[in-house]
Amino acid sequence: MSYTPMIHQYLAIKAQYQDAFLFFRLGDFYEMFFEDAKKASKELEIALTSRNGGKDEYIPMCGIPYHAAKQYIKVLIDKGYKIAICEQMEDPKQAKGMVRREVIQLITPGTIMEDESLQPKKNNYLAALNASSDGSYGFAMSDLTTGETRVTLITTWDGVIQEMDANDVRELVLTPDFDPTKKEELVERLNTTFSESKEDQVPDQLKSITEGIEQEKLLRPLGRLLNYLLSTQKRSLDHLQPADVYHINEYMMIDQHSRRNLELTHTNREKKTYGSLLWLLDDVKTAMGGRRLKQWIEKPLLNQKQIEKRMDAAEALKEHLLERETLRSLLGNVYDLERLVGRVSFGNVNPREVVQLKRSLEQIPEIKRTLAELGEASLSKYEQEMDPCAEVRELIAGAVVDDPPFSTADGGMIKSGYNETLDQYRDASKNGKRWIAELEAKEREETGIKSLKIGYNRVFGYYIEVSRPNLKLIPEGRYERRQTLSNAERFITPELKEKERVILEAEEKRVGLEFQLFGDVRLKIKEQSARLQKLARLVSSLDVLQSFASVSDRNGYVRPQFSKDRTLSIKNSRHPVIERVMRRGTFVANDFNMDKTCDLLMITGPNMGGKSTYMRQAALTAIMAQIGCFVPADQATLPVFDQIFTRIGAADDLVSGQSTFMVEMDEANYALSHATQNSLILLDEIGRGTSTYDGIAIAQAIVEYIHDHIAAKTFFSTHYHELTFLEEKLDRLKNIHVGAMEENGTVVFLHKVLDGQADKSYGIHVAKLAGLPDNLIDRADEILQGLEQSSPESVESTASTIQEEAEQEVAAAETVEEEPEQLALFADVKQEDTAPSLSKRERKVLHELGKIELLTMNPMDAMNKLYQLQKALKK
Ligand SMILES: Nc1ncnc2c1ncn2[C@@H]1O[C@H](COP(=O)(O)OP(=O)(O)OP(=O)(O)O)[C@@H](O)[C@H]1O
Ligand SMILES: [Mg+2]
Repeated sequence: MSYTPMIHQYLAIKAQYQDAFLFFRLGDFYEMFFEDAKKASKELEIALTSRNGGKDEYIPMCGIPYHAAKQYIKVLIDKGYKIAICEQMEDPKQAKGMVRREVIQLITPGTIMEDESLQPKKNNYLAALNASSDGSYGFAMSDLTTGETRVTLITTWDGVIQEMDANDVRELVLTPDFDPTKKEELVERLNTTFSESKEDQVPDQLKSITEGIEQEKLLRPLGRLLNYLLSTQKRSLDHLQPADVYHINEYMMIDQHSRRNLELTHTNREKKTYGSLLWLLDDVKTAMGGRRLKQWIEKPLLNQKQIEKRMDAAEALKEHLLERETLRSLLGNVYDLERLVGRVSFGNVNPREVVQLKRSLEQIPEIKRTLAELGEASLSKYEQEMDPCAEVRELIAGAVVDDPPFSTADGGMIKSGYNETLDQYRDASKNGKRWIAELEAKEREETGIKSLKIGYNRVFGYYIEVSRPNLKLIPEGRYERRQTLSNAERFITPELKEKERVILEAEEKRVGLEFQLFGDVRLKIKEQSARLQKLARLVSSLDVLQSFASVSDRNGYVRPQFSKDRTLSIKNSRHPVIERVMRRGTFVANDFNMDKTCDLLMITGPNMGGKSTYMRQAALTAIMAQIGCFVPADQATLPVFDQIFTRIGAADDLVSGQSTFMVEMDEANYALSHATQNSLILLDEIGRGTSTYDGIAIAQAIVEYIHDHIAAKTFFSTHYHELTFLEEKLDRLKNIHVGAMEENGTVVFLHKVLDGQADKSYGIHVAKLAGLPDNLIDRADEILQGLEQSSPESVESTASTIQEEAEQEVAAAETVEEEPEQLALFADVKQEDTAPSLSKRERKVLHELGKIELLTMNPMDAMNKLYQLQKALKK
């Protein structure tokens, strides 16, 4: 190849970082070439140019100024890309031949440390997975910004997906030979960046992180994770905390769909935090508290003792309003200790952040005092275990000025009195400057030029400036000329240059020494990482507990009790989020009464009546209780649920190419195969995605199955009134309905849950409320009446077995198809051979129609097919 040596160097380095953008440092720019350049110019919206890369070769190129790199890195990281930062490793002026260049860091979505790319209240997890031959998976994850590392063993593939989803893993490291179909599934279901690393032996210098862990199945994913971190970050990872082994069965299991459906951390439609449970419960004062709250919501507890411990503390804080307010204002002054410690270790902490660390530590003694005053046993752990890290605070207070510059480049961050040599340099430069000020006065005096001044610039150093009209006043030979401006001349004297040398030397030494001293301070803080991290953990948990207390107090929540006999009994229960966004006092509270003789509730009632709301509020109440928060009710007794399953209509998964009905059945199947009698199941209008009779049949079979084989607490809403007869058949099933009234032809929703079944659907009333055209509504009424008259059986059927239903379906199919055109059409099909009236083309279309497999098609494809068929007919 005829490439230049530099392009050869570029290609050699790029070969090692194929799945990343290579930011290749050239002077003040990071340049990209070839495909990288084409892709980057699109993603970053920057100009694509080209460069002569050898004899005749022009190669695509684009570049970004190195000082603006952060913002471009953020854009690429947000899109899930990786970036290899390749720097010049020697001064180009001194380099013999090609400047040596090396990749100093591979920045990836799971390892980014820059604030610009991180959300304060969200962990940024990098995970690694290791498949064992027995079908289990070791799963390790780490947040490089906070140093937390956790590892667990997961026995099922579903569990892996759930764990990835629950923790919102940003990047996953796999072995290069990981099962490709499984990887494909992960790519489809999760929004994660994938990386590879072969190495899975825990590196020697990071052994402390895995201390005490002996299981090979846990060590391997940890080894893979740590090797990946070392090879990409190429620097100290001392702030990584010892890995915490956890068991996924210590936490309530909520599958990926149910998490979405219940809108735990973001809403379904808009993907916003606003309107989610996280939003509701977030009254934390620190970023760390925000992350902890999210972790708790994502992992509700199962151990009642642990839950009660959190509740005791939240209750104590709820009862003591004054102290809580004091704590809140103190916490408000605490910065992100965890991430600050991470940056200290990582080496990219700036002087301002070090001062933030000090300010945060200054709050701790006061927080401890307030907790001590509270005198509550439930909070004494926090009071006793919080270590104010006084040495760190004093170290920073003694060394760093209170309002330091952002960058260390020009010094100015170290306090005077901290280091004697530094003080001497400062004096030297100060004295020099004073001498210069005196010189200016002296020269004015002696030359009589009042406007004479001494200035400084980086190129010429110190100079004496005299304006043009005054030049004649300068005695011959007094100054040496240096520079001519349009209206002035600049001069120097040997004395001035000598002083300049002294000043600049002192300045340079000062800046260098300040940098070094700041580095020492950083290292001393780094030695205390573990203590600071422990403190951060306590502060963040305390912050979440005070948030629970504040939110519970403000919204009138009560402390729930836990039942041992699976009783679910809630008085005046409300949907916590809807209640908050509605006008105060307008949400209608409802009760739940499910003792051990009742496992299933069949909920009927009009559209918009509040069925879905009622079901969801049960699930949200259970989750709130199990994370240790109070609940929206006047009185609440709940079982500790091991899992929650939902099938709720809203999240139809069109994007992933699955049909509505398929998603429904998938989710139902998942619930039926995983639920235990300690689970909570919400099935919202299951079976409505297919024909009425198929739907009813499947729904009934599911209800019976849950009743007979699982006995989980189950809420089942439906518009199939036919199903309410099941109350007679299944003794642990109860009918309830949401009330509605008809008033002057419109429906009034009471939102009150009542015993028994609903009498009417009001579907058309609701359609009217939605503003459909009047004549359309009239027509619907007409059709409804027709249907009710023509087949009273099918509308008010009290079918009792699936068998009967199936038979009826056949019968019904025949009655429904009474439309004259349809009859004619089908008649024609039957007499295909003998009917000359049907053209060849028409027969072909019919044949095509018969072949379509509707169940495997998505709605868009079905529409397209229909369109084609119709077009074929019209030809
Ligand atoms: N208890 C309540 N108090 C006040 N308003 C409520 C209550 N429950 C529900 N609503 C309001 O009614 C609206 C409809 O509720 P929901 O979606 O639960 O009805 P639904 O019975 O499930 O309807 P559909 O059968 O169409 O799914 C909600 O968005 C909410 O604004
Ligand atoms: Mg609904």
